[in-house]
Amino acid sequence: MTEAVVTGAAGFIGSHLSVRLLENGYDVIGIDSFEDYYPRWIKEKNLMAPKRHERFRLVEGSLALMDLKHLLDGADYVFHEAAQPGIGRSFGQFFDAYVANNIVATQRLLEALKGSRVRRLVYASSSSVYGNTHELPARESTTKMPYSPYGVTKFAGEQLVKVYNDNFGVPCVSLRYFTVYGPGQRPDMAFHRFIKSALEGSPIVLYGDGRQTRDFTYVSDIVDANMLALDAPPGTVFNIGGGDRVCLIDAVRMIGKLTGKNTEIEFQPPQRGDVRDTYADLTNAQAGLGYRPQAILERGLVQEIEYIKQLYNV
Ligand SMILES: NC(=O)c1ccc[n+]([C@@H]2O[C@H](COP(=O)([O-])OP(=O)(O)OC[C@H]3O[C@@H](n4cnc5c(N)ncnc54)[C@H](O)[C@@H]3O)[C@@H](O)[C@H]2O)c1
Repeated sequence: MTEAVVTGAAGFIGSHLSVRLLENGYDVIGIDSFEDYYPRWIKEKNLMAPKRHERFRLVEGSLALMDLKHLLDGADYVFHEAAQPGIGRSFGQFFDAYVANNIVATQRLLEALKGSRVRRLVYASSSSVYGNTHELPARESTTKMPYSPYGVTKFAGEQLVKVYNDNFGVPCVSLRYFTVYGPGQRPDMAFHRFIKSALEGSPIVLYGDGRQTRDFTYVSDIVDANMLALDAPPGTVFNIGGGDRVCLIDAVRMIGKLTGKNTEIEFQPPQRGDVRDTYADLTNAQAGLGYRPQAILERGLVQEIEYIKQLYNV
């Protein structure tokens, strides 16, 4: 049996990834500390699908505190999805949580993997490492200028992964995800908020002028990339995007059309730390991983709309 450990397994991406691994025959140990950034009942719902498999085991606890050596003993693969997300909140009094969950947790995980039999650690990095870059689409070599404390901590995690790869031979691959959407998307993220407001008939709060662009990536494409990363050379880093970028205001219009609801927009000032545009150059991901995004935004949004209808009974 091949054993995979998924950190952050109760989260949006970790739960989807766990299901794919279970479907592909892996034994999966999920680790999650159920951070209260968003409600536990949503994470419990995320876990319903992995928990249907007998080969799934959940361990509740924080990577920043728990004894990891023992837990990772039999791991063939580790997918490190656990993190404290959220850009705006990473300023000010909550920064400690970003240091603990994005930097300390990653360092402890890497320490525990030194000298282990692990064949790959796949690290969930982020497009936020690029910050407000003018080089679009961003290549992996584009200058890293994180624009938020969150981005700084995700980049620190990525650098730690490289340091343990190079010094101790812990075989690591980093994937820089660009805005992920789909069923299970976190409630703080734009599409989740937009769809919920549209379905409830409330105005959609849009920060900024709406002309900012994002490279949206459907969650199953992110899961595909993680599976492809298992064969990638250690020490490599790849952008994982959706293949295109879209203005937020156009995405709102699409949500209006798909929900059949009037989408009144309430414009508010841009949020601190939000970058203007993101767009991934996928040349390396295509050549090095064989990654090609499959999803089409409109179809992915339909899936997320169905999820949100069920989640809130709207
Ligand atoms: N969602 C996106 O658009 C996006 C984009 C770029 C990168 N990422 C990265 O992808 C990963 C998954 O993001 P997500 O959107 O699924 O977030 P999420 O918040 O839904 O999932 C993260 C999970 O990690 C858990 N966690 C946090 N700290 C932990 C710790 N110390 N020990 C154990 N568990 C801990 C949380 O409880 C949560 O369930 C994160 O690393 C995030 O930085 C996400």
